[in-house]
Amino acid sequence: MMHLNAFVMPNGHHEAAWRHPSTDPHRARTLRHYVDIARTAERGKLDSIFLADGVALWGNVKHNSHSHFEPLTLLSALAASTVHIGLIATASTTYNEPYHLARKFASLDHLSGGRAGWNIVTSAGIDEACNFNLAKRPSHDARYDRAEEFVEVVKKLWDSWDDDAAVVDRPSGVYADTDRIRAIAHDGPHFQVRGPLNIERPVQGYPLLVQAGSSETGKEYAARHAEAVFTAQQTHPEGKAFYDDVKGRLAKYGRTPDEIKILPGISPILGRTEAEARAREAELNALIIPDYGLRQLSKMLDHDVTRYPLDGPLPDVGSFTEGGQSRFDLVVGLARREDLTIRQLLERLAGGRGHRVFAGTPVQVADELEAWYRGGAADGFNVMPPTLPGGLDDFVDLVVPELQRRGLFRTEYSGTTLREHYGLARPVNRNRVKEPA
Ligand SMILES: Cc1cc2nc3c(=O)[nH]c(=O)nc-3n(C[C@H](O)[C@H](O)[C@H](O)COP(=O)(O)O)c2cc1C
Repeated sequence: MMHLNAFVMPNGHHEAAWRHPSTDPHRARTLRHYVDIARTAERGKLDSIFLADGVALWGNVKHNSHSHFEPLTLLSALAASTVHIGLIATASTTYNEPYHLARKFASLDHLSGGRAGWNIVTSAGIDEACNFNLAKRPSHDARYDRAEEFVEVVKKLWDSWDDDAAVVDRPSGVYADTDRIRAIAHDGPHFQVRGPLNIERPVQGYPLLVQAGSSETGKEYAARHAEAVFTAQQTHPEGKAFYDDVKGRLAKYGRTPDEIKILPGISPILGRTEAEARAREAELNALIIPDYGLRQLSKMLDHDVTRYPLDGPLPDVGSFTEGGQSRFDLVVGLARREDLTIRQLLERLAGGRGHRVFAGTPVQVADELEAWYRGGAADGFNVMPPTLPGGLDDFVDLVVPELQRRGLFRTEYSGTTLREHYGLARPVNRNRVKEPA
């Protein structure tokens, strides 16, 4: 069965969604809005919902809504209004400490009954560095280096309690078997952490570990640690190459290909007919403000493109960035391959910031998902509704039943935890005290 994650943005993924009459930017600042979206995803039996995050005011708030809530806070609230759906929060390894995140994700996992997931990001933005005592962004390699040790420490902290450490024996007065709770005494280049953690081992052992950087270093990191990968791929051959590449890296870490789920993003714009879907796409694109897109593009490319003519080609921007390398490659590749002007490129990026946008009927969208899934380019999809809540309603009411009819997607949840939804094993505790012989 394929896996489906709903990637939730306040008004939807199209950059002009907040201006579209079908959205309500004021309501998008309320808990009610997100509760409705999470319940819709759950009605559609989706595996999870996901919230992205950055620790700076990103982009040009003059022309887009940036009413993002802090993901762990919002997902904790959504844990109370949902039962099955997985809850994936983004959190940065560059601007956090492992103890804090180990504790917060363990808390969300307990509060949600085993539905927490962590999208591990290294924070590519310059603006983010400036909010955390730095004048300059740490280099790409330095960020991944820290991320490596960070996740090791977090796993050790989650393993600092055996699953059965809390014995809660009221007659004897023993709450926890302290022989089964251990310090981790981690002493590395970035972190010195004694432990143990101040909360029991998570319900899932470890919350689901998700990763979303697709550079060389990012792919290697995913192969070592990730269980689900969000990725932006424009074409089927690119998607297939990425899929094979990441899965092919697992063996050297003693992992099998089914231990990682690859989920390319897709923003489906639906209509009863193809013409209606295309008209909807055009309606959204007509609301684009080029100045907004130009600034976003400049950030993605780490290069000021605001001073070039909109109807001319993308200037030479080099081939390397200390920011997000894979998105840089994707955007430059798209512009060069299709010989796009800057204006055309802005249109192509407006729907999904480099993720694939597909306008069509529910059957056409299902055909496309099926082709990628059966063609070995995806284990499932990161669904990015162009507008919210309507775009997710359409997907759940029109595409999900089509996938179910084809036997490609579940009709009921069969497990209770996020790991069970994704068909992933519960990690054993690597520090468990050995039973006496
Ligand atoms: C679907 C998706 C979602 C992402 N969400 C975030 C996010 O919420 N916060 C963030 O800082 N980076 C996010 N990223 C960016 C990646 O985590 C990563 O930092 C970026 O792709 C650069 O990594 P790379 O140089 O290995 O490609 C996302 C990427 C993808 C594909």
